[in-house]
Amino acid sequence: MTKIQLSDAIDRRLSVAPMMDWTNRHCRFFHRLLAPDALLFTEMITAEAVLHGDLETLLGHDPAEYPLALQLGGSSPDRLANATRIAATLGFQEINLNVGCPSDRVQSGRFGACLMADPNLVADCVIAMQAETDLPVTIKCRIGIDDMDEEVGLDMFVDTLSAAGVQIFYLHARKAWLRGLSPKENRDIPPLNYARARRLAVRRPDLMIHLNGGLADAATIMTELPDFAGVMLGRAAYKTPMLLADLNDSIFGRAGKTRFEAAMAMADYADAMEEIPLHAVTRHMLGLYASQRGARYWRRMLSEEARQDRRGGTLIRETAVACEEMARSWAA
Ligand SMILES: Cc1cc2nc3c(=O)[nH]c(=O)nc-3n(C[C@H](O)[C@H](O)[C@H](O)COP(=O)(O)O)c2cc1C
Repeated sequence: MTKIQLSDAIDRRLSVAPMMDWTNRHCRFFHRLLAPDALLFTEMITAEAVLHGDLETLLGHDPAEYPLALQLGGSSPDRLANATRIAATLGFQEINLNVGCPSDRVQSGRFGACLMADPNLVADCVIAMQAETDLPVTIKCRIGIDDMDEEVGLDMFVDTLSAAGVQIFYLHARKAWLRGLSPKENRDIPPLNYARARRLAVRRPDLMIHLNGGLADAATIMTELPDFAGVMLGRAAYKTPMLLADLNDSIFGRAGKTRFEAAMAMADYADAMEEIPLHAVTRHMLGLYASQRGARYWRRMLSEEARQDRRGGTLIRETAVACEEMARSWAA
């Protein structure tokens, strides 16, 4: 039976995409400082891993990261339902199903983007997941795969899923070409088609359609935003994180931390995380001073120097102070 989902209180106009090996808890803590109102996503965690792995390692997070969506991967309704039941008690605000990831490993387990060819199976999955939680179960997908007709095929996919109760979709606005391209190439080579995503949003104003893919500058993002329920940023958020602070301010009228404040807060965070190597924290922060005076120094210190078996936040603190001084002396 289709479950009607009540709308929740989360404002999803800005979100940071799930990115494996990137958007782990340290990264999300950092992004939250810059974008206090964005919806953050975990990396994709397979249902199998949730059922058999160490939950603290896989799903552990800090409430400071909220609102936070957990992205699950899988294609077995039973396993996804069981994983959802476990995850739903852990504090996440949304459970998202990955129907967009093109990697070989993911295809061999028959999940990710290849599932766009089987909307009925995806519907079975989300119905099983919804039965285990009152949290919104949402979908992240492409506009199509391979030679699927991206007009008819995408409409059919979304209509099937909305009939199963899904109201929130994050649309990476390019196809996945599952034959012949690496996952990385699949994020760049199939052409972006925002117009197709827009047509879907116009045709289904009752759904929340979010635009994802190639969004990298504030002006374009603010132009696209009114046509969609929200924008989702991946690589640009990671590589130029101050863009998140700009967007949080433009979209929600609330500024996140400044560059320096964020660096200092992350230094405190690294102090508190002293049991883990500093580099595990700093590797997500290399873009903080991007295109600023001191950017190269910042990157070098937080990559090479941070790798020298360091712990605690002193290196971050000292490097941020030095970068601010470089910027001041240059401006003077
Ligand atoms: C390193 C990396 C890992 C990714 N891992 C995931 C993932 O786990 N789940 C997912 O749905 N998409 C994943 N993606 C795709 C992004 O969520 C996003 O859809 C894609 O990068 C396009 O957005 P962008 O152009 O803003 O980066 C990943 C992308 C990158 C760069």
